[in-house]
Amino acid sequence: MLILGIESTCDETGCSIVRDGKEILSNIVASQTDLQSLYGGVVPELACRRHIDVLIPVIDQAIQEAKVSLDDIDAIAVAKGPGLIGALLIGIQAAKGLAWAWNKPLIGVNHIEAHLYAALMTATTPVTFPCIGAVLSGGHSSLVLIKNIGHYETIGVTVDDAIGEAFDKAAKILGLPYPGGPQIEALAKEGKDTFSLRAGQVKEKPFHFSFSGLKTGVLYAAKGKGASQESPLIINEQEKKNLAASFQHAAFEDVIAKTTKAAQHYGCETILFGGGVCCNETLRKAFQETDLHCIWPPKYLCLDNAAMIAGLGYHRLALDGKDSFLLEAMTRMSF
Ligand code: KG4
Ligand code: ZN
Repeated sequence: MLILGIESTCDETGCSIVRDGKEILSNIVASQTDLQSLYGGVVPELACRRHIDVLIPVIDQAIQEAKVSLDDIDAIAVAKGPGLIGALLIGIQAAKGLAWAWNKPLIGVNHIEAHLYAALMTATTPVTFPCIGAVLSGGHSSLVLIKNIGHYETIGVTVDDAIGEAFDKAAKILGLPYPGGPQIEALAKEGKDTFSLRAGQVKEKPFHFSFSGLKTGVLYAAKGKGASQESPLIINEQEKKNLAASFQHAAFEDVIAKTTKAAQHYGCETILFGGGVCCNETLRKAFQETDLHCIWPPKYLCLDNAAMIAGLGYHRLALDGKDSFLLEAMTRMSF
């Protein structure tokens, strides 16, 4: 079964064609980093306009690269949320239009669930359920008990900033361009964990995350206690590297501790990872030191992409059947 998937939840426009939930025939991603980095973060209105400009060419390219004809495509999957409302609407309207015009089933897919599916899609060894899913992205930080594909229990979420968002904000404080994750990772390699920083703990919620205090810790260390975003840096270049290293260490120490605790609590050995922060090599190496069996997607499937949407769409169609054309965008959704 061939599924055409569309992704437009934030600032990447993607289209991909995937066979039987696994085999990626094409995976086109038009990133808006060039545009959004001018503003130091995602400007929703600009993201929407760029989606409108590039979505149809991206879809055309995905079909051409997959070397399939429209008749070969069995269904259209689209990320229905969570994400930016305007951005979601563009992908969803396009998907509805294609499904209607080509008379194909429409499948709405949860973007966070798809991030986790990216790891399953490319896993080279069979995955034993239940396992723990860790979504570490620009918009989400969640720990999920995965009982099987389509059967989940969310056990931890962030109560404030997502981990990728904290990386982006910490980078901005240090004067680094958007997206901040790769910049912090690179800077941290030249520094040492000399600043005393910690991620937040949430009372009676051992698997919940809180990264906003950690970001404020970076602000005060970099610009002085009580400083604002606009205040000048009061640290030298080496201290900046050390601060990047300390921030990253604190964030990952917290993720590793909570993921390990969740695995123990639910009797799981395997962790499926997803989301842009999972591109971070230091994080991957740190997890190697644990006893956990970690399954990481390749980096091109960690960041937002449509292959994970098309791949999961295959399973969603089998589990729930097609969606109605009344399918709506959802800025927030759990699963
Ligand atoms: O999954 P994604 O494309 O977007 C959401 O669905 O939100 O992830 C983007 C996020 C950004 O916050 C970016 O800074 C972060 O992933 N990121 C990284 C790295 N590469 C990307 N964070 C830490 N280290 C990296 N190497
Ligand atoms: Zn994402």
